[in-house]
Amino acid sequence: MDRIGVGIIGGGRIADVHAPGYLSSDQARIVAVCDRDPDTLARRVDEWDADRGYADFQELLADPNVDLVDILTPHHLHAPMVIAAAKSGKHISVQKPMAVTVAECDEMIKACKYAGVHLRVFENFIFYPPFVLAKQLVDQGEIGEPLSLRLKLGNMSGGWPVPLATWLWRFNPELAGPGPTVFDDGYHKFSMAVDLFGEIDSVHGWIDRSFGVADSPSMVSFTFKDHPALGYFESAVSLNAKMRSKYYSADERMEITGTRGTILMTRCTGRLLDEAPLLLVKDGRTIEFEDLRDDWLDSFTDCTHHYIDAIQNFRGPKLTGERGRHILQVAYAAYISAREGRRVDPNHVTGEELWEIRATEGEMPSPLDMPPPRPRSAPKPRPVTRPVARSAGPLERLKSKLPAKRPDRDDEDIDVFEDDDRPFEISDEGGFEDDDDHIKDFWEDSKS
Ligand SMILES: NC(=O)c1ccc[n+]([C@@H]2O[C@H](COP(=O)([O-])OP(=O)(O)OC[C@H]3O[C@@H](n4cnc5c(N)ncnc54)[C@H](O)[C@@H]3O)[C@@H](O)[C@H]2O)c1
Repeated sequence: MDRIGVGIIGGGRIADVHAPGYLSSDQARIVAVCDRDPDTLARRVDEWDADRGYADFQELLADPNVDLVDILTPHHLHAPMVIAAAKSGKHISVQKPMAVTVAECDEMIKACKYAGVHLRVFENFIFYPPFVLAKQLVDQGEIGEPLSLRLKLGNMSGGWPVPLATWLWRFNPELAGPGPTVFDDGYHKFSMAVDLFGEIDSVHGWIDRSFGVADSPSMVSFTFKDHPALGYFESAVSLNAKMRSKYYSADERMEITGTRGTILMTRCTGRLLDEAPLLLVKDGRTIEFEDLRDDWLDSFTDCTHHYIDAIQNFRGPKLTGERGRHILQVAYAAYISAREGRRVDPNHVTGEELWEIRATEGEMPSPLDMPPPRPRSAPKPRPVTRPVARSAGPLERLKSKLPAKRPDRDDEDIDVFEDDDRPFEISDEGGFEDDDDHIKDFWEDSKS
């Protein structure tokens, strides 16, 4: 095949890290761009030196110079756009998550098979070079028999600016799916787990909520069909903690423990620790892999190059529609488990279960509707380290929750909100200087 003509649909936030994979390839070229926002469209056509820009994706699909469409739009548009692209005979890459429901995934897979085009569900984390090496080390038996896998997501403040419009659709479950953490970002973590140890056959979830909209803190544990290791994914939102990152302010870490050693991946999107991106601990010593390509962008570029190569060489992509569908089911299984307090086999999940529950109550499911899986027993009383007068303001009460002063630190007067980037303001009297209702609600909840 000559140079592949690429049409990108959706020129929003994530498009910034998609384009370099094409711009650096001598086997593909961005020939067309589509975005419904005229300013974004004009900017992207110019930046990527594309030949044409379209406001309507159907017009891009009719462009004979486009061989491959890269779909970077909100989740509810993935299914209709993929099906239309398949009918136009284009190869397709669609960003994760594949769709909003499992039924949509089935339709997408069917349409692509019928049209004889490749479908790839874009997921960059399994192409992150430290992850690729970690998997090689596991496969080579460096840590013996793998026993457990821990995957961490911490959302903090900092990182690149994310436009409000990019956030808004994410918090609408009709457009984005049941939650921004487990369903959306969790896709990457489940994808890494599946890449390491294969299909997941049992899921248990604890999903709480933060700020009224985030399905977090959450803990999702799982087992694999053909591997004895146990896995789990943990998330938390710490908006008053600042993260070093050129991209999203996400603390992502991974730990794989085996019978002979442990592998630690210490970063991905952001950089919490000053450690090498990958560590192998075995035989009583630590091997630090310092010189790896470890920029998050590398994972996007490699993921894009892999697909270009697959199309050019008539090979199927690694990230198939079937795999995307399985990962969607794993996420839905976690929500169902969290609601019902039981272990769920993802292979029997359609995703409709959650939507049906809410439909009977006249609403769509939302992270707001994800209560803890069952009533928790009252927490055991903890020893009070610093008694606080009842009249203390919220700032005082928060300070009282800090650990007691350690002998080697002089942090008696530490101010937990000393960062200028704090997402909201608390006056010295404990009142709000920001009138955002969500934040107030969160604050009231956090006091109880
Ligand atoms: N791999 C990752 O780590 C990662 C990170 C962030 C986002 N994503 C995924 O990328 C996709 C896009 O996310 P984003 O953050 O860039 O969102 P975004 O809102 O910033 O961008 C979406 C773009 O699509 C355009 N658009 C919307 N409807 C359209 C339509 N009908 N026709 C043409 N254009 C339309 C919007 O104008 C916008 O420019 C999502 O699937 C998301 O989950 C992946």
